[in-house]
Amino acid sequence: MQGYHIAVVGATGAVGQELLRVLERRNFSVASLRPIASLRSVGKSVRFQDESVPVQELKEHSFDKIDVAFFSAGSEISRKYVPIACQADAIVIDNSSAFRMEAHVPLVIPEINVDDVRGHRGLIANPNCTTAIILMALYPLHRAFSVRRIFAASYQAVSGSGARAIEELKRQVEMAAQDRQPKPEVYPHPIAFNLLPHVDSFLQNGYTKEEIKVQNEASKIMHLPQFRASVTCVRVPVYRAHSVAVSAEFEKPVSLERAREALAKAPGLDLVDEPQNHRYPMPISVTGKDNCQVGRVRVDCAFENGLSFWVAGDQLLKGAALNAVQIAELL
Ligand code: A2P
Repeated sequence: MQGYHIAVVGATGAVGQELLRVLERRNFSVASLRPIASLRSVGKSVRFQDESVPVQELKEHSFDKIDVAFFSAGSEISRKYVPIACQADAIVIDNSSAFRMEAHVPLVIPEINVDDVRGHRGLIANPNCTTAIILMALYPLHRAFSVRRIFAASYQAVSGSGARAIEELKRQVEMAAQDRQPKPEVYPHPIAFNLLPHVDSFLQNGYTKEEIKVQNEASKIMHLPQFRASVTCVRVPVYRAHSVAVSAEFEKPVSLERAREALAKAPGLDLVDEPQNHRYPMPISVTGKDNCQVGRVRVDCAFENGLSFWVAGDQLLKGAALNAVQIAELL
């Protein structure tokens, strides 16, 4: 049979499910699919190309005869099983943060640093979803004006915390409609009708890991060690798609016209910027879309060479599944 033998670790999860849809939609050449999850999912099946494929439990031998393994089951699982998959000669595309910052592991957004894939040693990392969405708009501006630093606040959907968080928001919205107090499980506080300035765990310096990932991963992807990013990541009661308000400072003088030109022709990005007509990017307009959207582009009034903008993207797609499949296509 022609095509590749594919394993998806975390196939029952929010990203895993999306990955299967993206592989189908992009006609990725699949000879066989091995959906993998925890013991809890044994007995379940996933739909793939009109067939029902039984889920297998993750085991040491799960990667025998696998060509490409996608990992989307969190860092702990990746740390343990990615080396096993590599040992079995599978090429791994890892969606977790476990190996992203290791020097020998390419961290790739195909629209930005496609050449970095070349030096891979069997493992390629997929960037953090918020980082990916920011860079889809920031990188074209960087090419035009050379970015120095950004200040940003993110508005992150619950699907970024997995399938259980989607259920939690649904349940809490229903309970709130009945004037009942929701009991939080996934998050430390209710997420319905609330905002949590808390994504991932807190570090000694007061930032969260998610916030620091933006600076570290963006520096690596753009090959820009001096790049600085001060970010506040916020979880919002949106099912799907992250949005980010960004103010960026550049080395060179900026021009709004050139900025809009650069954004309009950037791959994987749509410029949606007619505020007079109430047209700007929103989570509901990017949900299910491959392209991110950027709007509210303006000359920043606080920085000398600054631009502010608002970028939104379906983080399960560009921030995860789509980017992972695009990497696999490059290989
Ligand atoms: P399972 O459904 O069996 O728990 P999400 O990000 O939506 O929460 O999904 C996480 C994915 O990672 C799910 O597919 C989940 O499988 C999988 N996963 C979680 N823990 C393990 C584990 N110990 N072994 C294998 N897969 C796991």
